Order: sequence, then C-alpha cells, then structure tokens
Amino acid sequence: MQITILGGGGFLGRKLAQRLAQEGTLGGQPVTGLTLFDLQAPASLPAPFPVRCLGGNIADPEAVKAAIPAGTDVVVHLAAVVSAQAEADFDLGLTVNLHGTLAVLQACRALPAPPRVVFTSSVASFSGGQDARLEDDARQLPGNSYGAEKAIGELLLQDASRKGFLDAVNIRLPTVIIRPGRPNKAASSFVSAILREPLLGLETELPVPEDFAVWICSPRRAVEWFLHAMTMDTGPLGLDRGINPPGRSATVGKMLSALAEVAGPAARARVRHAPDPAIEAIVGTWPASFTAERARRLFGFSEQESLEEIVQAFIEDDLAATRAERGL
Ligand SMILES: NC(=O)c1ccc[n+]([C@@H]2O[C@H](COP(=O)([O-])OP(=O)(O)OC[C@H]3O[C@@H](n4cnc5c(N)ncnc54)[C@H](O)[C@@H]3O)[C@@H](O)[C@H]2O)c1
Repeated sequence: MQITILGGGGFLGRKLAQRLAQEGTLGGQPVTGLTLFDLQAPASLPAPFPVRCLGGNIADPEAVKAAIPAGTDVVVHLAAVVSAQAEADFDLGLTVNLHGTLAVLQACRALPAPPRVVFTSSVASFSGGQDARLEDDARQLPGNSYGAEKAIGELLLQDASRKGFLDAVNIRLPTVIIRPGRPNKAASSFVSAILREPLLGLETELPVPEDFAVWICSPRRAVEWFLHAMTMDTGPLGLDRGINPPGRSATVGKMLSALAEVAGPAARARVRHAPDPAIEAIVGTWPASFTAERARRLFGFSEQESLEEIVQAFIEDDLAATRAERGL
C-alpha cells in the first residue's frame, strides 16, 4: 500500500504516520511507502518502509501531484487552515481549504487507478448549537467560513467518487482533545487547553460557561477512524460519502471534573473563567451532539473512551513531548 498524508506534519497527520510506522501494515497488507506532505517538509520517522517527506503548498497543483504519484493507493487529506484563522483571513481559508482540496481532486483524477481519499471535514460544517442532536441526514449549514469550505470540499469529493475519479470517505471530525504542543488558531483550541495547560502546571482561561457542551473525540480514536476509513468497503456508502463518527458530547464542567479526578483538584483550579464572545460566537453555532448511528451500525467506527481515559492517554502519549517542545 502506497500512502500519502497531506498535512502530514500536523497533530493528527503525525500520529497517523507513527501508527502506520509501528504497524507496517494497513488492512492486512504491507505498507510499501509513505509520503508526508506539509508546508514545511515534515521530519521523517523510523519505519519499516520508505518515508518521503515533501514541503509544498496544498493549493499548488504541481506540488500536490508530486505528493500523490502513480501507484498511490490511499490519500489522507488533512492539510487545512483551521477555524478561527479561516474566519479571520477569508482569502487564506479559501485558498487552502477550497483550492487545496481541488488540487487534491485533480491530482487523484490524474492517477491510473482511483485512490481511496480520506478527507477530514468537521463538526463546524453544521450548525444547530447547544440544543442540537443531529441525525445522520442533517443538513450542513455552516455558521463560519471554515465549515463552509469543508462542506464544499465534501461535495466535490463526493461527486468525484460518483464519477470514479477517486473513492472518498469524508469524516466530520469532532473537536479532538487533548491536542499536544501549544494552543493553536482553532476557535476550539480552549477545549484542549483547559486540560493540557493545567497538566503542564500552567494557568489557562475558559472562554465559555462550564455547562457549554462540545462534541469531542480523542486523538487515539481519530487515528482508529482514519485507519478504518482507509480500507473500509465504501460500496454501502452509496452516494453519501459523509460520516458522522461516534464522538462524545461532554460539557466543559464534566471535562474539568475528569481532570480533577485524574490529576487532582489543584490542576482544575488552574482554569480561570474569562468569557470571550468572539470565540463563543464561532463554537456556539457548532452542534453539541450527533446520533452517529450510520457510522456505528453500518460501518463499525469505534466508540470513545471515557473523559478520564482521554486525560490519562494524553499523560501517557503526549505530556512529556509537550513539556520538551515548550521547554517546561
Ligand atoms: N483537530 C481537530 O480538533 C479537528 C476537528 C475537526 C476537523 N479537523 C480537521 O482535521 C485535519 C487535521 O487536523 P489537525 O488538528 O491535525 O490540524 P493541524 O493544523 O495540526 O494540521 C494541519 C496541517 O496542515 C498544514 N497546512 C496548512 N496549510 C497548508 C498549506 N497551504 N499547504 C500544505 N499544508 C498546509 C499545516 O502546516 C498543518 O501541519 C484538518 O483538516 C482539520 O481541519 C481537525
């Protein structure tokens, strides 16, 4: 299996690459090569197969073609400008999130055989807000530019699948917690920060009330979902290539209780309330819950761990590296 990860230097791309390197196989077949593509060529990693690391812009069709050579079986398209950044810089969001996805479509279309494309869409492509519990056929009605660009990308890849140019699975990811490293420019960055920063011994701010609910998943589950989507039988998907995976709806208060349970009340006390209407205006439109029946019943996407396990997993997987990266 020849695999390309676009956005392979980012949070989830790196984790997926590490998992592939550990396993050496995908869907029972040996991985024969991995290309990691990002704005800056990602650092390589030890693997039982060749790893190619390329730097380039996802909106540059030639750069994307170089990252998806003939013989590519699977493309995981994660390269994106995230929510608050795409909202602040409309042109950048359009270039990366829309023209980038078009470049991926065209590069895949030029291959002799249609590859599987796993595209990460987002909960931000829906609206409905705190009271919503969305069914699988809920309409995508984005309340922000990032979500609109993701929804357009889904439609393009869905149509390209119908045409036989590629074979897409569009996963509408929940907010993935706990993101390692530093806070990022996602409007949802605080959802990770309120858990990660206290675990690092740092104070942090909570921009929404504690009863604010978020549709979340763990990085471990996100990687499981990618691996599943990379090889699953797409026949039963039919025209509808979108998957609402089984995340978990959790209030911020419940997340902070899990933090206190795992790391003690002193960790929880490092979170200060600091309402931020700009952040709440973006994340407040995102639905707090999905039924996710189709992903569970028909397609076998795995369920979430408990919040306590998610906090514990961050401590096991990412805390030491985050400390080192931030010089703490
Ligand atoms: N992490 C989440 O909570 C979450 C939730 C919903 C959807 N998603 C989507 O999942 C994907 C992966 O998320 P992540 O958290 O790993 O994001 P990330 O920001 O860590 O990784 C994205 C990568 O894309 C790269 N990139 C940005 N612009 C680029 C360009 N012009 N050319 C090439 N590369 C470019 C970035 O350098 C980065 O390494 C993204 O598409 C994101 O929109 C993430």
